[in-house]
Amino acid sequence: ASTLGAAAAQSGRYFGTAIAAGRLSNSTYTTIAAREFNMVTAENEMKPDATQPNRGQFNFSAGDQIYNWATQRGMRVRGHTLAWHAQQPGWMQSLSGSSLRQAMIDHINGVMAHYRGKLHSWDVVNEAFNEDGSRRQSNLQGTGNDWIEVAFRTARAADSSTKLCYNDYNIENWTYGKTQGVYNMIRDFKSRGVPIDCVGLQTHFTGGSSLPGNFQTTLSSFAALGVDVVLTEVDVTNASTTQYAGLTQACLNVPRCIGITVWGVRDSDSWRASENPLLFDGNGNKKSAYTSVLNALNGA
Ligand code: G3I
Repeated sequence: ASTLGAAAAQSGRYFGTAIAAGRLSNSTYTTIAAREFNMVTAENEMKPDATQPNRGQFNFSAGDQIYNWATQRGMRVRGHTLAWHAQQPGWMQSLSGSSLRQAMIDHINGVMAHYRGKLHSWDVVNEAFNEDGSRRQSNLQGTGNDWIEVAFRTARAADSSTKLCYNDYNIENWTYGKTQGVYNMIRDFKSRGVPIDCVGLQTHFTGGSSLPGNFQTTLSSFAALGVDVVLTEVDVTNASTTQYAGLTQACLNVPRCIGITVWGVRDSDSWRASENPLLFDGNGNKKSAYTSVLNALNGA
C-alpha cells in the first residue's frame, strides 16, 4: 500500500495524526493529512478548557470542526481528553474536593453526551502518574484516590459504544516505575471490573536511535491484561528512522496493538518543532522516517 493509513489497514490497524483546527485552512496540511491517515485526534480542541470554558456552558465548535473534517473524509476520530490536571478551564482549576469531583463527572457526561456513538475511543484520563509510579498530586487526585475509576465508570455509563483508554507518557520502558504503576492500576481495574478497554502509550521518544528497554514487552504485557494498546502521540527526536521503524514493528508484532497516531503532520506543526520529530518536513515532503514506517507496515 502507498499510504500510511492503507498500509496499516492491511493488518486491521489504523494510522492516525493529531489535527489542529487552526491549520485546516492550510491546503498543504489538509492534503497530506487526508491522503495519509485514517484516524484523527484533536490536538487541543476536545480538552476541558476548550469544551467547557465556563461551568455548565459547553463549546464544541472547534472539536466539531475537526470531527466533521475527518469523518467527511472517511477518517475515524479518537477523543482526547476528559480528565487531566492540565488544560483545565480556570473555573475548574479553582475547585477542589467534592465540588471538583462533581465537576469532573459533569464534564465527562456533558462532553460524552455530545459525541455519543461517534468516536472510536476516548482518552478518559490523561497523565495521572508520577515518574516513580505513584499518583500525581493533582487537584483531581486530591478528590480521592478513586477518582480515576469514577471517571471510567462515568464514561462507560455515558457512552457504552466507545473504547475507554488510560493515556500517559514515559510508560514505554517496561522496567520503568511509571510503566509499572500504570500496569498495576489496569490490572487492578480488570480484576475488579472497572471498565477500561485500552491503554495509550504517548510514545514521545527523545534522543538515541534504539527503542526504550523492552518496548515490545510493554505492549504485550499490557495486552495480556485484556486491553487494547494504542500508540497515541508518537514523535521522535530528529525522526530517527530506526526508532520509527522499531516502534511500528513492535506494534505489528503485538496483535492487540491496534493503531498508531503521530502527534502532528509536518515538523512545523509539532509542539517539538525544533526537534523535527515527525514524518513530513516543513514543506510537506516525506522524510526517510516516513519510508521506514511505510515499509514496516507493508512488511517490506
Ligand atoms: O490558542 C492559543 C492562542 O490563542 C495563543 O495566541 C497562543 C499563545 O501562546 O497559545 C495558544 O494556545 C496554545 C495551544 O497549544 C494551541 O496552539 C497553548 O498556549 C499551548 O499550551 C498548547 O500546547 C498544547 C499542549 O498539549 C498543552 O498542554 C500543544 O499544542 C499540544 O500538542 C500538547 O499536547 C499534549 C497532549 O495533549 C498530552 N500529551 C502531551 C502532549 C504534548 O505536550
